[in-house]
Amino acid sequence: MNIGQYTFNTPIILAPMAGVTDRPFRNLCYQLGADLCVSEMVTSEKHLWDTRKTKLRLNHKGEQGIRSVQIAGTDPAKLAAAAQFNMHHGAQIIDINMGCPAKKVCNVLAGSALLKNETLVAEIISSVVNAVDVPVTLKIRTGWDQYNRNAVNIAKIAEQNGIQALSVHGRTRADAYQGEAEYETIAAVKSAVAIPVFANGDITDPKKAKAVLEATNADGLMIGRAAQGNPWIFNQIKHYLTENTLLSPPDNTEVCQLLTTHLQHLYDFYGEHAGVRIARKHIGWYLKNQFAKTGDDKDRQHSESFRRQVNQVDEASIQLELVSEFFNPNLDPANTRTHMAPATDPYNDINILGNHNKYSAQIFIRSTTQYPTPCKHDHLQDPDFNINC
Ligand SMILES: Cc1cc2nc3c(=O)[nH]c(=O)nc-3n(C[C@H](O)[C@H](O)[C@H](O)COP(=O)(O)O)c2cc1C
Repeated sequence: MNIGQYTFNTPIILAPMAGVTDRPFRNLCYQLGADLCVSEMVTSEKHLWDTRKTKLRLNHKGEQGIRSVQIAGTDPAKLAAAAQFNMHHGAQIIDINMGCPAKKVCNVLAGSALLKNETLVAEIISSVVNAVDVPVTLKIRTGWDQYNRNAVNIAKIAEQNGIQALSVHGRTRADAYQGEAEYETIAAVKSAVAIPVFANGDITDPKKAKAVLEATNADGLMIGRAAQGNPWIFNQIKHYLTENTLLSPPDNTEVCQLLTTHLQHLYDFYGEHAGVRIARKHIGWYLKNQFAKTGDDKDRQHSESFRRQVNQVDEASIQLELVSEFFNPNLDPANTRTHMAPATDPYNDINILGNHNKYSAQIFIRSTTQYPTPCKHDHLQDPDFNINC
């Protein structure tokens, strides 16, 4: 299947998630097999483009895969301007958000609230498609509520107006995240249009992924929450789809290496102050995946008390050390910060060499001479967002 000039074979892609799919997380997922990672949404409200938050969302320096940027709003002209703005900042694909049920978005009739107004949907799509010369994709839910499941209509409108791929979350706007995602509507969408369709919603593991592909006949899958603290899921799904066997889950050492690298990317990207705080939720997700899910009460309590402890920490060096020791008590902390080969990424002096055959990334973490030295530079206030200290 193709999205514009980009060709994929049953792509497994990362869903846009505000507060999660920042550049460090997207890069991690790219390293671990994701075919496409959609950014956090960028508002179409121009006056907010100059805020710290949006500036970070516009930062694609060193992005290791196709740069797909999601835009959100309600006004066709503003969305077209936002699409152009993001294209000029490096977006290679523009994704329009008509799938988010969040109040902040829906109060201004954006996100999935737009599904109620098919005329406006058509206007928005054609306005954005005509404004840019990169492919435009669309993300929707199955409809407004259980009585108004109009995803098939919306898909046809999308196709007629130049959308090049469509992601469908198998819930209505009214469902929020309750109940289970359903795949019948996604199957109906897939058979109604010729553009590629991604199935999304509650795809938690490789077997579920295969079942959803079979149930919907979708061209690819979009994974959201199941990638949190578990970016290995992309290679795990791909392996299962091609080999029909399950890869063994990463052990604590692999998790430790990947997580500590992830944390360092967060400190680099956000600066130490914000980076440490943003890292806390990711640490919680890795803990949940590695320990809390085992069903063993001791594991759960142990990981919960560690989570509480690490959430008190404000310094990157201490956070990093605690995480290394918890996930890998046998690892000499000095070894978590060994010297590394020259950076491959011109924008980052952390070097991750992804091993695409399996899900383990070969990770080199930078030296103690660079960490734990806190960044003196406040990236969040730097208008140029020069991420290198
Ligand atoms: C924390 C969080 C943030 C999200 N932010 C967005 C967003 O910005 N844009 C969007 O279209 N969907 C957003 N979503 C919805 C996801 O893209 C996805 O459709 C949904 O989580 C269902 O997929 P899953 O079951 O694989 O998580 C978000 C979901 C979560 C959990």
